[in-house]
Amino acid sequence: MSKVTVVGAGAVGATCANVLACREVASEVVLIDIKEGLSEGKMLDMYQTSTLMDFDTKLTGATNDYTQTANSDVVVITSGIPRKPGMTREDLIGTNAKIMKGVINSVMEHSPNAIIIVVANPMDTLTYLALKSTGLPKNRIIGMGGALDSSRFKCYLAKATGANINNVDGMVIGGHGDTTMLPLLSKATVNGVPVSQFASQEVLEDAVQKTMVGGATLTKLIGTSAWYAPGAAAASMVEAILNDQKKMIPCSCFLEGEYGQSDLCIGVPAIIGKDGIEKVVEVELTAEEAEKFAASAAAVHKTNSILHEIGAL
Ligand code: 2OP
Repeated sequence: MSKVTVVGAGAVGATCANVLACREVASEVVLIDIKEGLSEGKMLDMYQTSTLMDFDTKLTGATNDYTQTANSDVVVITSGIPRKPGMTREDLIGTNAKIMKGVINSVMEHSPNAIIIVVANPMDTLTYLALKSTGLPKNRIIGMGGALDSSRFKCYLAKATGANINNVDGMVIGGHGDTTMLPLLSKATVNGVPVSQFASQEVLEDAVQKTMVGGATLTKLIGTSAWYAPGAAAASMVEAILNDQKKMIPCSCFLEGEYGQSDLCIGVPAIIGKDGIEKVVEVELTAEEAEKFAASAAAVHKTNSILHEIGAL
C-alpha cells in the first residue's frame, strides 16, 4: 500500500498524477488544489480512463482538504504560478514562495513522514525554502529539475547524433535556470560511447544551448510553461522512491561540502531510493565544468537571498 499526494491540479500536477496512475506506481494518488472542483474533476476524468488504460489505482481529488492527503508516503508539490513567455523562473519567487510556505505546513501536518518532491519554480530556491522552513532531514526534500533537464538533454543529443533516444545517456547538473543549468557534455554517451564520436563539437554545443533554454522554448510555443515532461519527471522520481530503485537521478539536493558547495539546494546526481536522497554522487568535472558549476551555485545563492528580503525565511 502506498499513497502519493500531488499538490496543485494544474497541467504539471495532473500529468504527474496521470503518469502515476497509468504506471500503477502507487495504490492511491490524491490530487489537491485550492480551486473548487478542479482536482475532483480531473481525478474523476482520470478514473474514467481506468479500463481504457488498464489500471486500478485509487484516485482522489480534494479541494484544499489536507485530511484526505493524510499519511502520504510521497508528496509532489507543483503548486504555484507558471511562467509566461519572456519570464524567468526566478521572476516567480514572490508569489510561489508564499504558496510554498502555506502548502508545506499543511503537507507536514498530515503526512509527517513523507518524502517531498518540489517541482514549483524557482525550483532550487523553493526546495531550499521547503527544507529550511520544515527542518526536515536533507534526504527527504528533493527538487525535480535535473531529472527534467536531463531528459530534455537526451532528446537534443539524440537529434544531434541521430542515435536512438533510448541509447542516449547524459545528465544536467547545476541550477534549474536558463543560464544556470549545466549539461555535462563530457559524460554524454550513446550506449557508453562518447557522443563526440557521432557529432561535431559545434552540433553538440548547439544541443547544450537548446537544452538550457528547453523550458523557455516551450513556454514561447505554448504560451505557458510545459507539463508533459515536468509531470513525467516528477513521477519517475516518485517511482524511484516507492520501488526503492536506487536510480541515479540528477536532482536538487541540499549540499554540505559536496562539489565544494554548502547551504543550498542545487542539481547534482543522487541515488534515489526508499529514503529519498540516499547518496549524492560526486562525479569528476572538467575544469570548465567545475567553474560553471561554481557560477551556477553563486546564482542560486543569490536567488535564495531573496527569500530573506521578502521575509519568507
Ligand atoms: C520547465 O522547465 C516547469 O520549470 C519547468 O518546463
